[in-house]
Amino acid sequence: MNNYVVVGGSTGIGLGIANRLAGQGHSVHVLSRSSSDQWVKGIEHTPFDVLNDEVPADWEELQGLIYCPGSINLKPFQSLSGQDFLQDFQLNVMGAVKCTKAFLKALKKVPGASVLYFSTVAVQQGMPFHTSVSAAKGALEGLTRSLAAELAPKVRVNCIAPSITDTPLASKLLSSEDKIEKSAQRHPMKKVGSVEDIAAMAAFLLSEDAAWITGQVIGVDGGMSSVRAL
Ligand SMILES: NC(=O)c1ccc[n+]([C@@H]2O[C@H](COP(=O)([O-])OP(=O)(O)OC[C@H]3O[C@@H](n4cnc5c(N)ncnc54)[C@H](OP(=O)(O)O)[C@@H]3O)[C@@H](O)[C@H]2O)c1
Repeated sequence: MNNYVVVGGSTGIGLGIANRLAGQGHSVHVLSRSSSDQWVKGIEHTPFDVLNDEVPADWEELQGLIYCPGSINLKPFQSLSGQDFLQDFQLNVMGAVKCTKAFLKALKKVPGASVLYFSTVAVQQGMPFHTSVSAAKGALEGLTRSLAAELAPKVRVNCIAPSITDTPLASKLLSSEDKIEKSAQRHPMKKVGSVEDIAAMAAFLLSEDAAWITGQVIGVDGGMSSVRAL
């Protein structure tokens, strides 16, 4: 049994990862502003707002840190203020930096420990209205590679870059059957992502099976970043 902290494990992808890890018998602690009635048995929770609170880093040893908070702030470039860009940077990048700093000592004590971040397909593939989020997530991808270099061989650092996935964060974009179908058709694999699609890759990257994988940004995106469908 290993210790994992899932920052942002109360909804969406983080909830799926927390439940999957707990289902594998691991000890899982979620840090998020709200709790969930969908957690499987045994998940512990501490209320935490990454933008305002000190990180409750009470762990001596940690196998994995998963940082999930993120934004989809889609607007034309001229409608996004400088403040919008800074807010996206704070949540997506500085939040990850703050949590990683707080848990690094505990991670370094465990052989095979790793950190997992979340980017977006919109870094690799230019998409209209994504300037703010892609700028922030692009920085997070840079952090992934640089930190992986600095922490090797002790701690692995990887990042998953999903395309649109059915979670509360994406609910406005998937609010009707028509929107879901149109979004699905834009993907070579003809479907939008599910939490399970992403959580499966997360569990793999955190596991011993991924012991030789670090500094990677892995697209789990229905082919969106690299395949042009017929
Ligand atoms: N869903 C997609 O289509 C999609 C696509 C590309 C990339 N991503 C990325 O994937 C990651 C997970 O996304 P998701 O769709 O699962 O999002 P989500 O459903 O909104 O979940 C985000 C989690 O982060 C927590 N959180 C948000 N703000 C927080 C704060 N200030 N302090 C502490 N916790 C906070 C939320 O919990 P509380 O509200 O309880 O705090 C929640 O548990 C994000 O980084 C996102 O950018 C998602």
